Amino acid sequence: MRFLVWILLHAAAELPSNCDAPDFTVMLVRSRAYYRSGFFELSDSERVARILESRELIKEICPAALLQAILLKLEENLVYQTDAFQSLMAQYTLYLHEAIRNEKITPDEMKTWPLDEGVQRVMNISEALAQKRSLSSAMVMNYCQMIDRFGTSHELDWILEPPFGESRGDGGDGGDDTGDTGLLTDTDFYIYQVDWPWCAPLKDEVLAKVRRAVRKLHVISYSAGPRREEQTAYFKYIADHWENLPDFTIFVHPDADEHQGSQFLALRRALKLIKTQSKFAQEALGYYPLAQQMVIEPMRVWGKDFAPIWQRFWHRVFGHPWTDMGLGPPRCKWQKHVGYYLLGHAGHTGRTRTSLPAAKATCAQLDEECLGVTCLSPLEPAELDELGEVPLFRDRWGRHSCTARRGAEGLQESPEREVAEVSYIKSCRSAHNADASVAASATAGSTYRAVNNSFLFGYAAGDEVVRGELEARRRCDELGEDCAGFTCESFIPLTKSTTKQGYADAQKAQSCTVRAGSELIQSPSSEFTFVKIPPSADLQKSVSRVTSKTNASRVFQFYTGSQSIVRKDRLQWWPLEEIENFAADGVWCSSTTGLFEAVWHRMFGEPLSQHARESDPALPLYLKWEIPTFFSYGDEEVI
Ligand SMILES: *[C@@H]1O[C@H](CO)[C@@H](O)[C@H](O)[C@H]1NC(C)=O
Ligand SMILES: *[C@@H]1O[C@H](CO)[C@@H](O)[C@H](O)[C@H]1NC(C)=O
Ligand SMILES: *[C@@H]1O[C@H](CO)[C@@H](O)[C@H](O)[C@H]1NC(C)=O
Repeated sequence: MRFLVWILLHAAAELPSNCDAPDFTVMLVRSRAYYRSGFFELSDSERVARILESRELIKEICPAALLQAILLKLEENLVYQTDAFQSLMAQYTLYLHEAIRNEKITPDEMKTWPLDEGVQRVMNISEALAQKRSLSSAMVMNYCQMIDRFGTSHELDWILEPPFGESRGDGGDGGDDTGDTGLLTDTDFYIYQVDWPWCAPLKDEVLAKVRRAVRKLHVISYSAGPRREEQTAYFKYIADHWENLPDFTIFVHPDADEHQGSQFLALRRALKLIKTQSKFAQEALGYYPLAQQMVIEPMRVWGKDFAPIWQRFWHRVFGHPWTDMGLGPPRCKWQKHVGYYLLGHAGHTGRTRTSLPAAKATCAQLDEECLGVTCLSPLEPAELDELGEVPLFRDRWGRHSCTARRGAEGLQESPEREVAEVSYIKSCRSAHNADASVAASATAGSTYRAVNNSFLFGYAAGDEVVRGELEARRRCDELGEDCAGFTCESFIPLTKSTTKQGYADAQKAQSCTVRAGSELIQSPSSEFTFVKIPPSADLQKSVSRVTSKTNASRVFQFYTGSQSIVRKDRLQWWPLEEIENFAADGVWCSSTTGLFEAVWHRMFGEPLSQHARESDPALPLYLKWEIPTFFSYGDEEVI
């Protein structure tokens, strides 16, 4: 609003053209930043839209900003609008000529604004889009039952509706804004239907409808982990298709909309990009996260109850201790207070607004000088006038709106506003005992393969204690090389009425002992053995492969849920043997689903500290445009 008022005032006063309005200065800084680093967030697409909406006005005031906005928008339009290049470049040329003719753009501005670079990029993209490739894709998910643990029913409604299924044909204009339909018609769909007695298969009428929305439907019945099944499905799919993987694999959950959002903003764009069947799509989509939520320093890595589990998992999957990564628990915790602010800027940072993580890092360094961080404060008049030190416009998601505060007077109640201020009060451990909170776990949580009618000879480390299945597994992990596996008395019988809980109870009631001997011996009884499977000899080769980009930050962060699009070559980063080991151990996968989702990106070629889509230097603008990320923080107890 403020921006338009400013323009109207200046236009009315017939001031000479200039690009000094804050929105233009921000536009210049942000365009340069985008071309340099690839960072382009929600507020940037909103700014471009605002400028384009007022183009007739802005071409008189700061045509450079309009030209830059056209170039940025063109990077996005090119992918889905066939005549975008001709029509927008024609507009660009028209406005440029007009600006030169009317002396509204100076030679200096022509140099200051990165217009040449923008044109060059657009031409490159246009060229890469014109080079055709034949690109295949498949979508993969597990399916167990109609009702999830929250009592919600999932009959894959989301696939049957736009943008994937056909529109209901009511001719109305309700709901879907972009009118996309049938986005999965070129994609094969693999449903891994879990065959535990407590899982109900999808009804035939649902399958019939799904079949119409996709290229080819494959329903595969398989035995998975007894609790959570998604990773076993993913691993089974990768192992079974290793020799003939499609170009892109899309990993989703049965309730995909929970993490992706009901609009499927990311998946929708990625599918349209794949439909261009171009070199551009092939190169742009290496690993693309589909979820909306990113967690930063999640508690599952360092929380007292979680760290030992995480460390055992990490050790097994990557073959070296987590502590090697040099990532400790966050030194400071932050208590969130909505509707409050803190007085006074801390340190030498002044009014410069930054992201929440950056403001927290500044505040943490300032010790007593800084009580906390305040975000979403309205812009002060001085900020609007300041040039050079550019205020970043406050962003709906609270990023780039935060400053470290002295706060000596404590929390102050904010005046009531449309967008509430938020403050975070800091409490830090002193630096020298920061690492002492969690002792490193030395053991790896091994994977095992079940073998019927067999036993291993001799007790491991002389331990004759009879344990339940999961207890015996834990003990065998703990004994490391001294334990070759564990033998249990008999298979847990399954009937149609076996429940999940009933099965878990039976696992507890099993009589198992840890074993030493390395040779499996055939058993005349129904004894069976879980044999410990060591990591593949090829594992370290995969672990030490250099990732395609640098870490996003100095802390561990990732998108929740494993839902992602992964290119064929990336899926083959991890050794096939390991994928098969994982797929064979349903019990292990069940208990590590939430841990696998934290390393999914790392296994398939992304740096450990995952980039948010908007700051990922490898992703094209089209895959960032108007897709927000919600950030949550382990120091606020997010797991
Ligand atoms: C455009 O492509 C050329 C040739 O591949 C490359 O040298 C140049 O750096 C690219 N320019 C931009 C801005 O991407
Ligand atoms: C082992 O035997 C049980 C009971 O006969 C059977 O249900 C199960 O599928 C067998 N498992 C394997 C891995 O062969
Ligand atoms: C990312 O950070 C981890 C942990 O500090 C480090 O081991 C790894 O080498 C880094 N990767 C890249 C690509 O910089």
